[in-house]
Amino acid sequence: MTIEIRDVSKSFGKVQALKNVSFTVPSGRVVGYVGLNGAGKTTTIRIATGVLPPDQGDVVIDGYSVTRDKKKASWGVGWVPELPIFESEFKAIDYFTYLAGYYGYKGSEARRLGEELLTKFGLGDAINRKLATFSQGMKKRFALAVSMINDPPNFIFDEVLNGLDPQGIAFFRELAVEFRKRGKAVLFSSHILSEVEGIADIVVFIHKGRIIGSHSIDEIKHEAKPAVELVLTKVDNDLLKLLGKYGEVSVVSGNRVLVRNPSVDSSVLISELVSKGIGVLEAKREEKSLEDFFFNLVKRAESGEL
Ligand SMILES: Nc1ncnc2c1ncn2[C@@H]1O[C@H](COP(=O)(O)OP(=O)(O)O)[C@@H](O)[C@H]1O
Ligand SMILES: [Mg+2]
Repeated sequence: MTIEIRDVSKSFGKVQALKNVSFTVPSGRVVGYVGLNGAGKTTTIRIATGVLPPDQGDVVIDGYSVTRDKKKASWGVGWVPELPIFESEFKAIDYFTYLAGYYGYKGSEARRLGEELLTKFGLGDAINRKLATFSQGMKKRFALAVSMINDPPNFIFDEVLNGLDPQGIAFFRELAVEFRKRGKAVLFSSHILSEVEGIADIVVFIHKGRIIGSHSIDEIKHEAKPAVELVLTKVDNDLLKLLGKYGEVSVVSGNRVLVRNPSVDSSVLISELVSKGIGVLEAKREEKSLEDFFFNLVKRAESGEL
């Protein structure tokens, strides 16, 4: 229904992880929570789910305070942590049945729900496998299924797309449509803005523990610039320098780089790279790069403008 993050601050020793973080996830909205690694997403989520107490501020879920009324507040939220840990020797279906028991589902009823939800989440063939043998992506799918047991009005997912295969991401996209239709309030974090496209309605940006903006996807698309995304065999300083001649360069992850506002056609860029002996595994021209919007926001925050 509604998740309200109200003026939350949190420090770990000398590190201030969150500074006066406030935003609301309204009913029927899917909000992407985007920031670089270490920005403070997981800390916000752990506070919102009652796992971690804030130093200051509060999170209010459907009117219940996480700090004062934790049980009621967390009852209304289904959540999936960044790295779900299930070192269980139990079979998936048995563990699900056991967890469903907490929500009042009895024996065969719990089992039926388990079969239904685990199948829905693509684990139909694995229900009799031990959880400990699941891959990280499968554990994530299992945790997603578990988060739906009591059909809560709110959902919080930490880096839920990370570790999911394209099929899993497509599934999550459909899930988001369903959530929206059913009036759920959904908050999900990601460090890759383009992943959020097609899923979120609104993106809240966090940088170094501060909220630096909240924008609708439509607004972000409108302001973004063109870009070429390249996957190369090798990325080093020389290469970044070379690419820098053709536009603003940033490393998205590993050997994936983004050249924003390129001054030449992508075909020219590719032949230049190939002539220098650099293999181009993938090249994708984006009419408008969402990452550009994100980096620009970060740049403005760094310069004290935001
Ligand atoms: N338990 C902890 N102890 C010390 N520092 C922490 C702890 N959890 C998070 N931090 C620090 O808080 C900051 C925000 O981390 P986090 O919320 O995990 O970021 P994100 O999820 O956006 O990558 C980082 O500087 C991180 O090192
Ligand atoms: Mg995190």
